[in-house]
Amino acid sequence: NWTMDDFIDLQVDHIRQEVGDKKVILGLSGGVDSSVTAVLIHKAIGDQLTCIFVDHGLLRKNEADQVMNALNKDLGVNIIKVDAADRFLSKLEGVTDPETKRKIIGKEFIEVFNEEAKKIPDADFLAQGTLYTDVIESGTDTAQTIKSHHNVGGLPKKLGFKLIEPLRKLFKDETRELGEKLGIPHELVWRQPFPGPGLGIRVIGEITPEKLEIVRESDAILREEIKKAGLDEKIWQYFTVLPGIRSVGVMGDGRTYDYAVAIRAVTSIDGMTADFAKIPWDVLQKISVRIVNEVDHVNRILYDVTSKPPSTIEYE
Ligand code: XMP
Repeated sequence: NWTMDDFIDLQVDHIRQEVGDKKVILGLSGGVDSSVTAVLIHKAIGDQLTCIFVDHGLLRKNEADQVMNALNKDLGVNIIKVDAADRFLSKLEGVTDPETKRKIIGKEFIEVFNEEAKKIPDADFLAQGTLYTDVIESGTDTAQTIKSHHNVGGLPKKLGFKLIEPLRKLFKDETRELGEKLGIPHELVWRQPFPGPGLGIRVIGEITPEKLEIVRESDAILREEIKKAGLDEKIWQYFTVLPGIRSVGVMGDGRTYDYAVAIRAVTSIDGMTADFAKIPWDVLQKISVRIVNEVDHVNRILYDVTSKPPSTIEYE
């Protein structure tokens, strides 16, 4: 029957004892689990922790800045941010197959991480935000067979680091509570799930800078309006997708031939099954008007009304 304060004290002591005067590295994604792990370990050992934050260029609008502001600037966590967007984009050029895209992004991610990790001499420990559910699900995760999952939790076991996983006994809601206790901003702690391959699997087929821009900008508008409508903590996940089809439209008195953007929003308990979210029409209308007006090369908005199964939440 422990409280979160007890948990923090206990973990801080434990981490200090285990690490001694050695160094720890951590792959930071900006997600809840890795962020909470980073701040907890930072509380224990300060600058003996270095986080590596790989910006693969597939993050949401302002996401990298938000993470750097909250964790680095405000909380003092030591973070090396690697701007690897060009590298990922050039590896992905011309690639259309979903699984191939996922594998390229995952592999490149580990390579960039390793290159940075090597620059930190005498780092003996690798910290990961493994939760209790990850521990019990590993090996039996059926999602793995449908899509090859990528996240920072799957980093190099082979490298010979000793693992530190201070959240191993926690569930997601406890991890969020811990995050708030540690002073991580509410929006970061309660953010919706975001896949490791990021916007790379929300541009269907080949990823180009132009298509990424459309998804990134339309997604930012969607999130803004969902928040304004007070729905941001009621919907499990909500994002836009670029299916890649173009269609004819009319703007002023001219013909357009531009992209359609799909809105995907689902309610769910754990992501294993999901229902499409019933966003009120007036909210959808506002989102639709804004995206078409504000994002270049978009002339049509589609609303996805399929649940999981038979669809999956993400499109690739
Ligand atoms: P699907 O698309 O399989 O997604 O219905 C189920 C949940 O998993 C998330 N997802 C991922 N999360 N790495 C992650 O960390 C990934 O590669 C990945 N792919 C999908 C998805 O956003 C949803 O919440």
